[in-house]
Amino acid sequence: MTSSLLIKDLQVSVDNKLILKGLNLEVKQGEIHAIMGPNGSGKSTMAYALAGHPKYEVEGGEVWMDGINLLELAPDERAKMGLFLAFQYPTAIPGISMANFLRTAVNAVKSDSSNGNGKKGIPIVQFRKILNEKMDLLKIDKSFARRYLNEGFSGGEKKRAEILQLALLEPKFAILDETDSGLDIDALKVVSEGVNALVGPDRGFIVITHYQRILNYIKPHFVHVMYDGQVVESGGPELATRLEVTGYDELVKEKAK
Ligand SMILES: Nc1ncnc2c1ncn2[C@@H]1O[C@H](COP(=O)(O)OP(=O)(O)O)[C@@H](O)[C@H]1O
Ligand SMILES: [Mg+2]
Repeated sequence: MTSSLLIKDLQVSVDNKLILKGLNLEVKQGEIHAIMGPNGSGKSTMAYALAGHPKYEVEGGEVWMDGINLLELAPDERAKMGLFLAFQYPTAIPGISMANFLRTAVNAVKSDSSNGNGKKGIPIVQFRKILNEKMDLLKIDKSFARRYLNEGFSGGEKKRAEILQLALLEPKFAILDETDSGLDIDALKVVSEGVNALVGPDRGFIVITHYQRILNYIKPHFVHVMYDGQVVESGGPELATRLEVTGYDELVKEKAK
């Protein structure tokens, strides 16, 4: 059965200021949706609210997946349901290797996996095997797993860590948020190739982007424009092309007529 992530009339405030003002969106497994929109339109707010970040206060609305309103679940339970938002690491964690971090993340999200001894968690040998498979799939050099988390990571390497985490957690829905300053070309390629390698009938993607550029590498099935906390326009890939020509301001003016 194909799952869908259904966002209904989502209203979210940050520091008592209403940012999302009734957001509606439906994403099915197997689909790639691009969310575009100018800075400050609420794209990242949507991502954090879906993940359950405590700073983002849900004022109204529902987010349904498999018959459950995710907004009633704690962040870790949402992840267990199959929702992925890459954790944001503000700092490096010295002494924690990528491999160790990823195993901890997999065990936390897929905690029902027993190692056969009655203990929870994937045995190291089995985890190594899966990690190697995923790194092959994503064409990531094996030495990457031995690096310490975020220590001296370039933009591209941070994205590589994010995509590798995604590949291991195998979520039903993944939300990827491009930084507002955009990604450098290395990071852009990592993200695009990762999405293209990991898209499939069991996975839906929400790719958030300020710039049209990433859509030269990822072909979304649907494009949505967010403005002032709402989706103001939805369409196919041609909408992104149109936006590149007209810009957000023109689109919003057209809408206001
Ligand atoms: N953590 C935060 N603290 C304070 N204000 C925030 C925070 N996150 C978002 N905002 C505010 O919410 C609005 C939407 O921001 P954001 O969701 O980051 O937009 P986008 O990702 O589309 O650029 C902005 O006006 C921003 O100032
Ligand atoms: Mg943002």
